[in-house]
Order: sequence, then structure tokens, then C-alpha cells
Amino acid sequence: MSSWWRDAVIYQVYIRSFADGNGDGVGDVAGLRSRLPYLAALGVDALWLNPWYASPQVDAGYDVSDYRRLDPLFGTLEDAKGLIADAHEHGLRLILDIVPNHTSDQHPWFQEALAASQGSDARARYHFRPGRGADGSQPPTDWPSIFGGPAWTRTVDADGEPGDWYLHLFAPEQPDLDWTNPEVRREFEDILRFWLDLGVDGFRIDVAHGLTKDPGFPDLASRAAGGMLDGVARDHPYFDRDETLAIYEDWRRVADSYEGERVFVAEAWVADAARVARYLTPSRLHTAFNFGLLSCPWEASALRSEIDATLGVLAAVGAPPTWVLSNHDVIRHATRYGRSQTSLSDARRLYGTPVDHALGERRARAAAQLINALPGGTYVYQGEELGLPEVEDLPPSVWQDPNRRYTDHDGPVRDGCRVPLPWSGATPPFGFSPEQATADPWLPQPPDWKDHTAAAEEQNPRSTLSHYQALLRIRREWRDRGLGDGAPLEWITTPPDVLAFRRGEVVCYANLSTAPVALPAGYRVLLASEVVDDDRVLPVDAAAWLVAE
Ligand code: NOJ
Repeated sequence: MSSWWRDAVIYQVYIRSFADGNGDGVGDVAGLRSRLPYLAALGVDALWLNPWYASPQVDAGYDVSDYRRLDPLFGTLEDAKGLIADAHEHGLRLILDIVPNHTSDQHPWFQEALAASQGSDARARYHFRPGRGADGSQPPTDWPSIFGGPAWTRTVDADGEPGDWYLHLFAPEQPDLDWTNPEVRREFEDILRFWLDLGVDGFRIDVAHGLTKDPGFPDLASRAAGGMLDGVARDHPYFDRDETLAIYEDWRRVADSYEGERVFVAEAWVADAARVARYLTPSRLHTAFNFGLLSCPWEASALRSEIDATLGVLAAVGAPPTWVLSNHDVIRHATRYGRSQTSLSDARRLYGTPVDHALGERRARAAAQLINALPGGTYVYQGEELGLPEVEDLPPSVWQDPNRRYTDHDGPVRDGCRVPLPWSGATPPFGFSPEQATADPWLPQPPDWKDHTAAAEEQNPRSTLSHYQALLRIRREWRDRGLGDGAPLEWITTPPDVLAFRRGEVVCYANLSTAPVALPAGYRVLLASEVVDDDRVLPVDAAAWLVAE
């Protein structure tokens, strides 16, 4: 039998927006535990939880002040242990988010470093450097922070005089660790063991491509630095450097020393699939979150070349691909697909312009059906199973994303894909918080989400939720006969803008053209994302799985 992680369907739980158990308007472990039956019934194999550690929450938990404790917002360590046990009882594996590139500025190590002198051991855990210019008033390099502004902030010495600068590729409250320091490496291996001992099944590695920096600290100069969402060029001073790969060889040894298959998923925004493959050799990480389709337009040729490129290079290292349409950092694909230009960069450019929601949701269902027929694993970002759109009209007064502070940030605030889930009822908080809640959801939900609640969609056999449930059930049933890991993909010749391929006994058709397309004779429809009359004609913007009659 193939390893579980080679074709797992992983549901991303953005915990602060999933379900609020204690009524403070923020999702938590208690809320998540109460909704495990929903996730088991949806048919996913594993959950990936965004960071739940103690944190000042400057970047929604990606600024960790204690990696061995939960933030009280989300619960206690006892709650975490209860969740791990409950998830396993529901047949769900649990993957945590580990944040090794940076800590919070409130982490004891950084506080110690600030209080210590230049050149001290405490400062050697981070990147402190003198500024440039006669008085050191210029940052050590020209590197930009991914959220906007410079990637360096100047400190003040004990005597009140301006001192060294420290590096933060993200917000100033997220200082970068120095991974050449053996103490940093030991500490993170210990943190991995702490959670593996408690029974977690693996880790998603935040900014997996960013851990080591060029020790010469060269300027980016004329090179386009790019935001977090852009591909990164080779020989970059802080992204995708060879030295980072050795760290993961150590991590792999840690994971492999545990019973059961404990796994790593890299968040590696690098230039292309070939660069991703470097992280996925057998002695390094298991899989990588694949950004290809999440950025790709709803166009047959673009999708096909992305699929081929990924399959080709990953096969060479024996790693399974993963397929992803959305996450907590990007515009939801049900909205991206609802305009005439549909790549992620189009979506950022067209943010706030009119959207055909019905079209977007229809294409999103077809896309989900397409990716779930490809070799490898898939991700579901919470709410996509309900067809939720991006909320593009949140008032600036409620924005929380640290990128909102910078006018030079490339892209909209990420709050619009993080709005709390609607579970039931006709008005906010739509069952997200309990009846006796003391606070509103941390971001306001659109008042017209009543038809998008899980409860409403469960009652509607034509809803996106019903489609996902059927999709994941059938994917499981056909795992050994064409869906999931294993069976190679063979493209089938089709009319333009139609994608079709065979895997084992299953044939998948996706119609991205502007006219309905005839399905091959001798096959019956296992499942389609829209109604297919007499098993014969696949409508526009729909996908179907077929098996021989
Ligand atoms: C990637 C995470 O997905 C994003 O949400 C976060 O802001 C950055 N890493 C920094 O940790």
C-alpha cells in the first residue's frame, strides 16, 4: 500500500476562522474539536493547522513567542492533546505549521538579544549588522520586507544611541533567525520532537526556502526582489539557497526516528517545479505545497503545461505532487475564476472589480474535480468546499494583515480570504460562535452568506459542499484503480480547450472551452461537477470522471 501522504487530501484549518468554541469571536481548538465530525464526513485524510503557538498575533500567529505553548486565544496544551487524540479517532491525521525562519520580537531570545551587546552570543541567534554610511544610518543591504518597507530595523543601544540593525524578511516584529548557529538548529529539532512526542503526524514548514542567507549580505541591486508570491531567481541572497537543504536532511532524520509516517510539507515559493524538486529528494522533505495551479489562469493550455512540468520533475526524485487552488495568503479561487482574466496576478490587479460569482463557483467545482484526478495529493483551504468567495469589500478599519501598513506592498490585504466560516443560520455569526458569544467574529462576515452555510449546503444536493463530499468519497473508492497515487497520467487528444486524461480505469474530462463537448461512447459518468445529460455532453466549465460501461 502506498504511504498515506503520497495522495492525502489535506484540509487547511485556518484556526482563528474555523469555529469559535468559547464565544470570543476567534476560532479555537474547542471549536475545531466540535467540528471534527464535519471534516470526517467531508472525506479528507488530514488537517493542516495554521500556527496555534503563543504569539502577539502581529501576523496571525506567524510571529511565535513560545513554540511549546498554545496561544490562550486558541486553548491550552491539554486542549491540543485532546485534539490530537480526537482527530486520530476520526481517522484524521494532524499536521502543524512550524515557523523556523523568524520568531516574534517578543520571543525571549530576541528580547535577550536586544538587551545584549553587539557581538554577543545572544545576538548571534539573529542577524544583527552595522548600518552603512558614516553614521550607520543606512540599512546593511537594500533588501525589502515582503510586507513592504525595508527588511532591516535599527535598534537602540543601552546608552540610548542608535545601534545595529536586525533583519526581518517579514514584519519588524518577525526577526529572522541565523540558521548557521548550531544553537538555533538544536532548538528547532527539539521543538519538532516536542510535538512529534505528542503524536502529531507532521509539519508544514513556513518559508521553507528562506532559512539561510548569503553570508556576504550582497545587495539585490537591480534584481527584482519580488513579493512572497512571485517566483524567485537563482543565486538569490536569501531565498532558495543550497545551504538550506542540509537543514532538512537533519529534520528528516528526526521524523524518521518516530513510529508511523511523520511528514514534512515545504512551503517553498521558488522559481519553478525543478527548483521545488531539490527539497524533495528521499533524504529531505516528503512533499511541497505546489503553488503552480493556485497562480495559473483557468485556461487549458496553461493548466496542462503546469501539470506536465510538475509531474516531470517530481517523478525524477520520486516525490508525489500536491495540487492546490487556494490558501490563507491568496485571493480565493471562486472569485479569481469569476472574472474574464483568471490568473492570480490578474486577481490582484482586478481586486474589487465586478465578479460573476456563479461562474467562479462553477469553475471552482470543475477545478476541484480536475485536481482530484491528478496523481498525488490535494489541499482544500477551509471554505472552498462551500464555494466561498473572497470578501473584497472589508472596510479598512477591520483589516489585520500586517501588509496593510505599507503602501509599497504588492497585492491586497489577505484578510478577505480569512473571514470566519459560516456554519448555519440566516444571519452573522452564522453559527461560527456559540449563541452566548461575548464578541462578534474577528472579521465581519457578509450578511448574505446564508446560502453558503455548511448546514444550507448539506441540504442542497447541487451545492458545492455536496459535490466535494461525493468527490472525496469516490476518490477514496477508486484510489487503487486510477485516483490518488500510482497510475500514470496519459493525455487524451481532445478538441481545443478541453483537457482529458486517463489514469488506470478512470478518465477525467474538463471542458474549459466555450461550447459543450461530447463525451466518449462506451463510458458512464462516475461523477460530474454539473448535470451531464444522458452521460453524453459535458457542459462548459465543468469536469467529469468516467469509467468504461
Ligand atoms: C507564509 C505564511 O503563509 C504567511 O501567512 C506568513 O505571513 C508568512 N509566511 C510569514 O511567516
